[in-house]
Amino acid sequence: MEIRKVGVLGCGLMGSGIVEVAAIAGFEVVVREVDEALLDAGRARVRASLDRAVAKGKLAAADRDAATARIGFTMDLAALADRDLVIEAVVEDLDTKRELFKALDGLCARHTLLATNTSSLTVVEIAAATQRPDRVLGLHFFNPVPVMKLVEVVRTLATSEETFATGMAFARALGKEPVATKDTSGFVVNLLLVPYLLDAIRAAERGVASIPDIDRGMVLGCDHPMGPLTLCDFVGNDTLCRIAEILYAEYRESRYAPPPLLKRLVAMGRLGRKAGRGFYDYSADPPVALSL
Ligand code: 3HC
Repeated sequence: MEIRKVGVLGCGLMGSGIVEVAAIAGFEVVVREVDEALLDAGRARVRASLDRAVAKGKLAAADRDAATARIGFTMDLAALADRDLVIEAVVEDLDTKRELFKALDGLCARHTLLATNTSSLTVVEIAAATQRPDRVLGLHFFNPVPVMKLVEVVRTLATSEETFATGMAFARALGKEPVATKDTSGFVVNLLLVPYLLDAIRAAERGVASIPDIDRGMVLGCDHPMGPLTLCDFVGNDTLCRIAEILYAEYRESRYAPPPLLKRLVAMGRLGRKAGRGFYDYSADPPVALSL
């Protein structure tokens, strides 16, 4: 099946990245947000990222303008009705996603494929809210979307072969490298990454080393691009906590349980880079580790 028209639900960190890479790859994109303020913020995020790509010499100014012209911004869910593929990238909450998929199922053309960018829920639970579970799949992107090469393409028990093949081809058309995964919570990356991040928080909690030294250990010792506590702040401590709760509820294994320190940071609003404070204070340059 050929994908030309793409819809994106949510223009936050992940949604805006998906919009950007799809528009650059030549797809006609419509992105929907729930209110004017979020839509404006999403538009500004896409614009800033495209400008950054031009400033870095990765994208010609004319290609930025062409990509921008391919993006439509809306608050109307019905504007996604004629899409070939809709990718949902809203908050990690099963009821919210199921409601949206049910509404999309009623609105969208019969051929429309529905994808979720969920990071930890099972796709089939979302697909079950529709009458088209054979045309529902997972397309899990990584932050920052314009940079990270991977897309996990998730096939549920109900996903048809054609839907799955189209998802794989779409990821490649974006210039990404797809990895096929089963529909198990966390897929490949978060199944392995989340316990590692939670262990780093436990190490900080136990005072194994300072925050910068835990990070330096993994950057210098394993050549990771950023240390685990910096990565927690990058992903968002609230997002990480939510993912951990979902994985823990699914597997009942203690390695997925959110550590008390993570919960306390979230309660204090130390959500990470987006909040200006997490394990580090981002008002300083370079960021300074905060006390725990
Ligand atoms: N948008 C576009 N490009 C960006 C970018 C962004 N938001 N952030 C960085 N870049 C580009 C830069 O332009 C630069 O490109 P260049 O080398 O061609 O000039 C390159 O990425 C490196 O950026 P910087 O030099 O500014 O900074 P760093 O070298 O520190 O790299 C990083 C930043 C790419 C974020 C790197 O630190 C990294 O790869 N970190 C790990 C990220 C990661 O693990 N992501 C996965 C998170 S888990 C997830 O998303 C799953 C979810 O379900 C939780």
